[in-house]
Amino acid sequence: MYDFAAEPGLAKPETYRQMTEAALALISGEDDRIANMANLAALIWQYLPDLNWAGFYRAIGSQLVLGPFIGKPACIRIPWGQGVCGTAANTGQTQLVTDVHAFPGHIACDAASASELVVPVWRDGVLIAVIDCDSPLTARFDAEDAAGMEAFATAIAAHI
Ligand code: SME
Repeated sequence: MYDFAAEPGLAKPETYRQMTEAALALISGEDDRIANMANLAALIWQYLPDLNWAGFYRAIGSQLVLGPFIGKPACIRIPWGQGVCGTAANTGQTQLVTDVHAFPGHIACDAASASELVVPVWRDGVLIAVIDCDSPLTARFDAEDAAGMEAFATAIAAHI
């Protein structure tokens, strides 16, 4: 049994540090990338409050293809450059969207989503996936979330 959980009341940087430590403990010994992404999505869900979707889109050819996630069923293929995820892939930059309704081209997979954080995952200089987190709260994510999730993405990149 795995019993990873966020400690209540922690500052965000410490929450992300603990989540990353837990992630490496969970996936380091496993080479099945799908299994690892599935567990990582579950871990993000467990550590970060106020999410309605958390998971992966994988870079395959000119598209992002849905990977393991927690949340409502989502769009399966996102063309490079479209939506928040496609913009993260296209620019290689983290997308911190405080209000998804104000983001041109946002793709609504769950009508409850109000803010979103999308972080690219790089392996050997190649963008291999994005981590997508949605929240029903406007401005749920800030610069500390972006920095914490970027460090998480770097740490897990070899295992997904
Ligand atoms: N909102 C995303 C699509 C994926 S869902 O949020 C899971 C986007 O605009 O790319």
